[in-house]
Amino acid sequence: MDLLLLEKTLLGLFFAIVVATVVGDDLNHRNLSDYAKKFGNVFLLRMGQRNLVVVSSPDLAKEVLHTQGVEFGSRTRNVVFDIFTGKGQDMVFTVYGEHWRKMRRIMTVPFFTNKVVQQYRHGWEAEAAAVVEDVKKNPEAAKNGIVLRRRLQLMMYNNMYRIMFDRRFESEDDPLFVKLKALNGERSRLAQSFEYNYGDFIPILRPFLRGYLKICKEVKQRRLQLFKEYFVDERNTKATSNDGLKCAIDHILEAQQKGEINEDNVLYIVENINVAAIETTLWSIEWGVAELVNHPEIQKKLRDEIDTVIGPGVPLTEPDTYKLPYLQAVIKETLRLRMAIPLLVPHMNLHDATLAGYDIPAESKILVNAWWLANNPAHWKNPEEFRPERFLEEESSVEANGNDFRYLPFGVGRRSCPGIILALPILGITLGRLVQNFELLPPPGQSKLDTTEKGGQFSLHILKHSTIVLKPRSF
Ligand code: HEM
Repeated sequence: MDLLLLEKTLLGLFFAIVVATVVGDDLNHRNLSDYAKKFGNVFLLRMGQRNLVVVSSPDLAKEVLHTQGVEFGSRTRNVVFDIFTGKGQDMVFTVYGEHWRKMRRIMTVPFFTNKVVQQYRHGWEAEAAAVVEDVKKNPEAAKNGIVLRRRLQLMMYNNMYRIMFDRRFESEDDPLFVKLKALNGERSRLAQSFEYNYGDFIPILRPFLRGYLKICKEVKQRRLQLFKEYFVDERNTKATSNDGLKCAIDHILEAQQKGEINEDNVLYIVENINVAAIETTLWSIEWGVAELVNHPEIQKKLRDEIDTVIGPGVPLTEPDTYKLPYLQAVIKETLRLRMAIPLLVPHMNLHDATLAGYDIPAESKILVNAWWLANNPAHWKNPEEFRPERFLEEESSVEANGNDFRYLPFGVGRRSCPGIILALPILGITLGRLVQNFELLPPPGQSKLDTTEKGGQFSLHILKHSTIVLKPRSF
């Protein structure tokens, strides 16, 4: 290598490091929306050794997720996700192919059908009722307020652990729940952080990540061990639940016994549900509550609808949620403005591809900026406003299932979220029961809740878990 080439290489490396550390540190949906305004609806960022393609128009989203859904249907991983998914032995982060197809088929019957909704909806209603009872019992809730999220988190774990293991946790202090929550929280924090991007993008910097990756490995080991010891092994010895019905893990273990998947795959399915189902739905409920507190007129309109259609004090059920168009509109608006996974889970093309006439090198990470699609003023009326009415007026034909490429809170196509079938009724039951039973208010001395966002690699949640006053209604 001559001197000039060496100088150029070093200069190139220097710029790659600067871009990877400065830009790579905050690749959130809002920054990427600003780049789209500057660079267009498709642009490529070269981050060290990784190519990152950002797609920001409904037409191009359709191309990636639908028309070329197979070409762009894989997932990128990175040094951290490789650890947590055993290099794609799971379903969410595996490439598009035989393994994914098998995992998705095996998971469909136990998790993603209307039969599952009908089997578990009474349990979800009972969990929401238990939240209402616990809040009513706590005098602090009506006076200075409580961090409602903590109780809702227990509810969400119970909603999903009933489906998975026919299990629930009695209280927020249950030691097993505390341990599980801490390990899942640590896994999310480590995976969603931007902290490790520099070492992921630039392999020669990877030695600096050694400490970080060691912690990831330890958390992963402890977590999978916990799933195995306390949940999966227990189920291995029980045939069916008390009422004779199978829970999800029974179906999954059957697939293992048939030799379709191995024990690691079983544990990665449990891992996937823990991250894909619980936190996403919880964040959405938390955003919904915050928006309802900050928009008392919307909250009142929703309460009036529930009182009129269901009757004051009549406990709202899952079938009721479909009779409540304003409740549905509140949920859609929450998922639009506060999209829990604003960039979808990153997609990837295994082979060289073309998009809008541009060459996309193989193994590029493809981010569809779904948040921008749903918040671009060129396509939506006053998108920054929280206004559920839009879904009853000018956007009344738009559904959350991807029937309109401007609105993709669950993605669309092959890698879209199969959990939508569970998430929507859980959101409806929970928000419905809360508004039905309480007046939700900011804490004394505060007129609004702080709704500052915190973004991660592909998550969006509220920065500060709000304290909320819940005044019980009397019927
Ligand atoms: C409000 C709650 C939820 C939201 C907003 C949400 C959103 C999403 C999004 C945007 C994706 C990626 C789509 C893509 O990459 O094109 C996804 C994938 C996925 N979600 Fe959800 N989700 C939610 C709840 C759930 C629930 C309750 C479950 C399971 C019970 C679940 C299971 C999954 C799985 C397994 C995938 C990966 C699909 C694949 O790669 O083939 N999600 N979700």
